[in-house]
Amino acid sequence: MNVLNAGQLTLEPQTVEHAEEMFAVLSDAAIYKYENEPPASVDWLRNRYARLESRRSADGSEHWLNWVVRLPDSRLAGYVQATARADGHCNIAYVFASAFWGKGYASRSVEAMIAELAATYGIHTLWAVFKEDNLRSRRLLERLAFQPSTPADYRVHGVEPDEMLMTRDSAF
Ligand SMILES: CC(C)(COP(=O)(O)OP(=O)(O)OC[C@H]1O[C@@H](n2cnc3c(N)ncnc32)[C@H](O)[C@@H]1OP(=O)(O)O)[C@@H](O)C(=O)NCCC(=O)NCCS
Repeated sequence: MNVLNAGQLTLEPQTVEHAEEMFAVLSDAAIYKYENEPPASVDWLRNRYARLESRRSADGSEHWLNWVVRLPDSRLAGYVQATARADGHCNIAYVFASAFWGKGYASRSVEAMIAELAATYGIHTLWAVFKEDNLRSRRLLERLAFQPSTPADYRVHGVEPDEMLMTRDSAF
């Protein structure tokens, strides 16, 4: 897995060594306004990151790719995530601490990840699911040229009634 550059940001392949620093980043309650919850403890996050270092799903069919995002001043701001399949389709997600919202860090990081997914993992179609009230997430995806998906895609992806699904070709 490669280190990626996104302007002055550095995307580092996530490892167990990032757990302590990321625990502080991910303890920001604002991140969980729409879904999920903060990690229970540094140890919990360490275990999770250790498991994710296999970078594969249990059946080996998917690449599970996570990069933490480092600022020029060396602080970590968040992470970007991709679930890449052999058929060229990939789900993405992204999480940044609220102190780092509104600065374009998420857009730049996700764009750099998409370029890497196309170049190294043969990804041609990207998908993102999010809670429909999460306007920041929607704005981010629209800025990155994602489009609303079709009802048939919603069924295939098992999208919940309060969620939205958007899609984009990597090569856009
Ligand atoms: C979703 C999330 C990543 C969006 O982060 P964000 O900071 O709003 O996204 P961006 O990095 O694209 O920042 C865009 C904002 O920065 C501004 N900006 C400043 N400089 C910029 C630059 N150089 N390039 C792009 N945008 C820039 C833009 O004007 C934009 O503001 P606007 O949306 O009010 O117009 C963030 O809200 C988050 O982590 N939320 C919690 C987790 C979550 O909900 N994740 C989604 C579920 S997968």
